[in-house]
Amino acid sequence: MFPLQRGRRLRINESIRSLVRETTLSPSDFMFPMFIAEGENYKVAIPSMPGIFRRSIDMTVEEVKEVFALGIRAVNIYVKVDESLKDNTGKEAWNDNGLMQQAIRAIKAACPEMIVMPDVALDPYSIYGHDGIIENGDIVNDATNDALVKMAVSHAKAGADMVAPSDMMDGRVLRLRQGLDAAGFENVGIMSYSAKYASAFYGPFRDALDSAPREADVVVPKDKKTYQMDYANRIEAIKEALWDVEEGADMVMVKPGIAYLDIVREVKNAVNVPVTVFHVSGEYAMVKAAAERGWLDHDKIMMEQLMCIKRAGASLISTYFAKEAAILLNQK
Ligand code: PBG
Repeated sequence: MFPLQRGRRLRINESIRSLVRETTLSPSDFMFPMFIAEGENYKVAIPSMPGIFRRSIDMTVEEVKEVFALGIRAVNIYVKVDESLKDNTGKEAWNDNGLMQQAIRAIKAACPEMIVMPDVALDPYSIYGHDGIIENGDIVNDATNDALVKMAVSHAKAGADMVAPSDMMDGRVLRLRQGLDAAGFENVGIMSYSAKYASAFYGPFRDALDSAPREADVVVPKDKKTYQMDYANRIEAIKEALWDVEEGADMVMVKPGIAYLDIVREVKNAVNVPVTVFHVSGEYAMVKAAAERGWLDHDKIMMEQLMCIKRAGASLISTYFAKEAAILLNQK
């Protein structure tokens, strides 16, 4: 067709480019992951995640208000649990007065319009650092589901808007839906970590919560490969997402983000619910580290990554960059 068609005509200047731009980003596309710790007036930096902190509930609430003012409308929250409260059953997870439950109540009281999505998985509560209960050297599926239901109902009682199972047990979405409904929480949604890969990109997150799989006095898997997905697989991701929708998931998630955008697009095309993408801790750490060395332009890389995740099919992006990116977007 050349020279009748010249693609460059639509790129002549920023105004023209803005007319034909296919994807846009706004602060409400982001969900901000937050780490919560015991104590008061406590805020400690996480070394492998510059700019990200573990905060006590009072400090968390202040941060949530700031984040809301920037236009962000969702937070996914994770707790760092004292070692003395950890065991193999994870029972602290459904303590109605546990750290997570207190945090949910405090955030909803201070900022009722912020959508709160607590993480549903046993790893922060597990003495072995696994997402479920260990028996005979592996994670037992159905007993773990029973625990997750108690955990999710306890989150709902505390005021969670949606629960976010990140454990990858089979059938947990259905069990959670039934459990929430039976307890009278039919309006509490489920945002399921459907295609969650066994990924080395979660390293800094496990530092933040001290939740990595660890040595023990019994046989314990050294990684999460018997429940999280093999990153060589694509079709399996679609299967997992479809199952979760059938089981009642209101939203599904693909995780991690940037290296998995082919999966995001395929899942987006396969399901009829919104897709969330988790731009995870290791992806954040890589950008921060390269920017610190002056090897990459921090803000440009951040916005490029977020836009590309949205373009791939994300309705919601869980990202540690949420605040910084919202500030930049609001300046425009
Ligand atoms: C725990 C959980 C993990 C993440 C979210 N929920 C870690 C894991 O599965 O080991 C990772 C998030 C991140 O790396 O930012 N179930």
